[in-house]
Parts: sequence; C-alpha cells; structure tokens
Amino acid sequence: MFKYQAPQDLLKGKVILVTGAGGGIGRVAALTYARYGATLILLGRNTEKLEAVYDEIELNQWPQPAIYPLNLESAGDIDFINLAETIENEFGRLDGLLHNASLLGDLKPISQFPTETWMRIMQVNLNCAFMMTRELLPLLRLSEKASVIFTSSGVGHTGRAHWGAYSVSKFATEGLMQIIADEEDGISSVRANSINPGGTRTTMRASAFPGEDPQTLPTPEEIMPVYLYLMGNESQHINGQAFHAQKS
Ligand SMILES: NC(=O)c1ccc[n+]([C@@H]2O[C@H](COP(=O)([O-])OP(=O)(O)OC[C@H]3O[C@@H](n4cnc5c(N)ncnc54)[C@H](OP(=O)(O)O)[C@@H]3O)[C@@H](O)[C@H]2O)c1
Repeated sequence: MFKYQAPQDLLKGKVILVTGAGGGIGRVAALTYARYGATLILLGRNTEKLEAVYDEIELNQWPQPAIYPLNLESAGDIDFINLAETIENEFGRLDGLLHNASLLGDLKPISQFPTETWMRIMQVNLNCAFMMTRELLPLLRLSEKASVIFTSSGVGHTGRAHWGAYSVSKFATEGLMQIIADEEDGISSVRANSINPGGTRTTMRASAFPGEDPQTLPTPEEIMPVYLYLMGNESQHINGQAFHAQKS
C-alpha cells in the first residue's frame, strides 16, 4: 500500500471537486478530503446519495460542502460551462479536481462489443473528463497550487481480454493526464497525475468479479493515503505521473 501520513490540516482552505462523490471510492475520497479541511463540491448523478454524503460532512462539522447533481452520460459543453460559472461565482477558484466517476459496462470481447455501450463508457469516463478539465482549467490556474487527479486502472496500463471500452477509456485517461501535465508545466500552478486504485471493495469491483469474496479486498478507506498525498501541497512538484494506490 502507498504510505503517507497526512497532517490534519493538509487541505485546509482548499476547494475540491470530486466526481462520482455519491458512492464507492468517490464518496470516501470526498469524506476524507473534508476531514482534512477541504470544502467539497460533490458532483454525481444521484442527488439522494450526494445528500447523504453532504449530511455526513455536516454531522462531523467539517467545512460546509456544495452539491452539484449532473448526469455525465448526457452532459455536454454547456453543462461544464455552467459548472465553471457556478464555481467561479461561489468560490472564485478551484484547488483540486478528482476525476473519479466511471462506468464499467459489460465485459465482452471486441467482436461482440455493442457500439452504444462503447459510446456511453467513452462519454462518462473520457469525454466528460476532457470537457470538464478544459472548462475548469482557468479556475484551477487561479489556485496557488492546483491538483488534478485522474482515476485509472490496471487495464489502463495493460489491455485485457473482454475489458473493451473501459480499458481503452483508461488508457486514454492516462494520455489526457500526460498531455495536461505537459501543457501546464512551467506556465501554471496546475499539476496532473493519475491513480490506479487497484482492486477495491466497491459495487464496480463486485460487478466485474462476481465470484470474488469482497472481504479479501481493501476498502476505499485503506487506499486513501495516495489520494491525500496527491491532493496536498507536499506533492506540488509531482506532475504527469501514474500512481498505484496499492503499491508501496
Ligand atoms: N473498485 C475497483 O476495484 C477499481 C479498480 C480500478 C479502478 N477503479 C476506478 O475507480 C473509480 C471509482 O470506482 P468505484 O469502484 O468506486 O465504482 P462505483 O462504486 O461504481 O462508483 C462509481 C461512481 O461513478 C458515478 N457515476 C457513474 N456513472 C455516472 C454518471 N453518468 N454521471 C455521474 N456519475 C456517475 C457513480 O454514481 P452512482 O453512485 O449514482 O452509481 C459512482 O458514484 C472509477 O474511475 C473506477 O474506474 C476502481
């Protein structure tokens, strides 16, 4: 496991957006960032789930978050322009962006892969990360030390039979991360890196590996050290790198 002990005030004063914040790793990342002092923008498609995370943050008296319901499957340019305008009006800048929301889709060989599923997965996992980052870059550049984190996968580094669009979307996510990292290098305070969570106890993992005993997998809470490290200022010199949450 990646080892990092974060100081309690690591993210104090930071404004951080997490996509897919209603469940799985995104929910735990949002709660963890709030616990370490950040003000969270909770983005997801299910308002009830986002409200539950909001309530948990309030109950703990961490900084008051904001909820931004958005279904990435149908989102386009205008939605991300509106998102950027809202954040600018409410907060004036953005210090952190965790691209976490993803769709797995069906596991099928390419010879049988439905185009419609391919398009949906690319839209949520890749196209939205591109459009959202493009529209939010001006607000990220206003931060003294901004961190953009993309969520990758083992199959974003090595292709695997039947993982189709999901795998290709994660390869492309690594490419998008590297391009942004290179473009911002030396001209802004924005850095971009990726995290491969590794097999983690969530709904997505259970649907990919229905026969697996979830108790053999780490929980999202256990993989948080690298999420904290990359969001905090101690990683400000790290740019364009691919991290593995479960490797030391
Ligand atoms: N768990 C693993 O073993 C593992 C391994 C490698 C990589 N990853 C990556 O880690 C990230 C988190 O995965 P997870 O395991 O936590 O999966 P998860 O439990 O399925 O959570 C995925 C999140 O994405 C959101 N989402 C899906 N489609 C969306 C849409 N159209 N619009 C807005 N939000 C949407 C989901 O919202 P709802 O709550 O409404 O469904 C949920 O909050 C993903 O990028 C995944 O690819 C996970």
